[in-house]
Amino acid sequence: MNKPTDTTMENIISLAKRRGFVYQGSEIYGGLAGTWDYGPLGVTLRNNVKRLWWKMFVEDREDMFGVDAAILMNANVWKASGHVDTFADPLVEDVKTKKRYRADHILEDAGIDPKGLTVSDMDRLIKDKGIKSPDRNPLGEVKQFNMMFKTHIGAAEDEASVSYLRPETAGGIFMNFKNVVDSFHPKLPFGLAQIGKAFRNEIAPGNFIFRLRELEQMEIEYFVKPQTWEKHFEEFRTLMHSWTDMIGLSEARVHELEIADADRAHYSKRTIDFEFDYPFGRKELYGLAYRTDFDLTAHTKASGTDLSYYDEETKERLVPHVIEPSFGVDRTILAILADAYTEDELGGEKRVYLKLSKNIAPVRVAVFPLLKNKPALVEKAREVYSMLRKEMPGVVFDDNGNIGKRYRRQDEIGTPACVTIDFDTLENETVTLRDRDTGQQTRVKITEIVDFL
Ligand code: GAP
Repeated sequence: MNKPTDTTMENIISLAKRRGFVYQGSEIYGGLAGTWDYGPLGVTLRNNVKRLWWKMFVEDREDMFGVDAAILMNANVWKASGHVDTFADPLVEDVKTKKRYRADHILEDAGIDPKGLTVSDMDRLIKDKGIKSPDRNPLGEVKQFNMMFKTHIGAAEDEASVSYLRPETAGGIFMNFKNVVDSFHPKLPFGLAQIGKAFRNEIAPGNFIFRLRELEQMEIEYFVKPQTWEKHFEEFRTLMHSWTDMIGLSEARVHELEIADADRAHYSKRTIDFEFDYPFGRKELYGLAYRTDFDLTAHTKASGTDLSYYDEETKERLVPHVIEPSFGVDRTILAILADAYTEDELGGEKRVYLKLSKNIAPVRVAVFPLLKNKPALVEKAREVYSMLRKEMPGVVFDDNGNIGKRYRRQDEIGTPACVTIDFDTLENETVTLRDRDTGQQTRVKITEIVDFL
């Protein structure tokens, strides 16, 4: 019987490292805060997630167009989008240690809900209530801290050479709106989708891969006629739940949060956050925003290029409005690991396993010869392995250690099924197929393994 476990972040981080999902970035130099590296199984899990997302939101639809824009963009993109002026978090400094904190986090820790508070509200509250830093020192003035990473393009380091690492992939999508309209003449509504890295100089990165400085997003800007925005917002709201379901997240751990006017990003008229119950509490997983015509209008004004759309049906020109579902890849991986981590007892022994959905498991099936030192078994197992590899991705061969150890290893990385070749296989072309969750073994014909899986 599976028992629900109170998974801790330590459990997840330790398994992720031990089994090659996620390693600390630049670890031998003491790491670099807010960066993590994905190992062989992590990268496969990520790729499976991204492939599934692309299939569901782009390939399986006629109204979606994929783009892959450059990370470095003309600085004017971020001036026009409002990010240079407003993409900031409230920062407060410990006057003694000079350590910097998010003022809203400091207030939260003091039991005060920071939602809707301005920077000056936070400053006043910290002063009035005498709130101290985690090191029990006085705090300085609360200031806005811009989170974009600034860099210089080329050899000269002056104002003219300033560029930013993109803080959201959306900017690159808006830059390609006109290109795609001119090349493909899509009818409204239609969307542009992109998967790619984004960078944020977070004041307080942490909670493993939850709050990163280098992250990856899967985003859609869906262009609609202004009067239809609510309908499309609802469509994506439903689709986002279908997505969390498809990747196997427990429905009970995914929640919606309507974001109040004062807390929404500067470009949004309505936002729903999709939150997840992580081991450290309920926090944002994804966002769904109604960005109105904010971006296309702002870029038209700043660039002098008309980004309006000519509607052939109504013979009218309009600036489309935008619905934006935004999915963080890294938070998806964290939610998947947290939800899948399970401890139970099997055959009288404690075990840890990842209850990953077949859709995304990095290894879908492992093939074993019962004994490593019997050439006939190894040869047959290799034959079955080669046959399965032609049929599906994520097939591995394993003859290390005894069979019990191999099962444990595959359980820990979430492999849904293991196929064992034994002496009966040589007689009657059948194998044992073991189910990860129940540990149950079923005898099936080699020719039926694929259907069974
Ligand atoms: N284009 C809209 C946008 O970027 P956001 O709510 O700032 O909106 C979208 O970010 C998603 O990106 C979040 O829901 C989350 O999944 C992910 N994300 C944002 N900041 C992150 C960070 N510092 N580390 C990891 N993921 C992050």
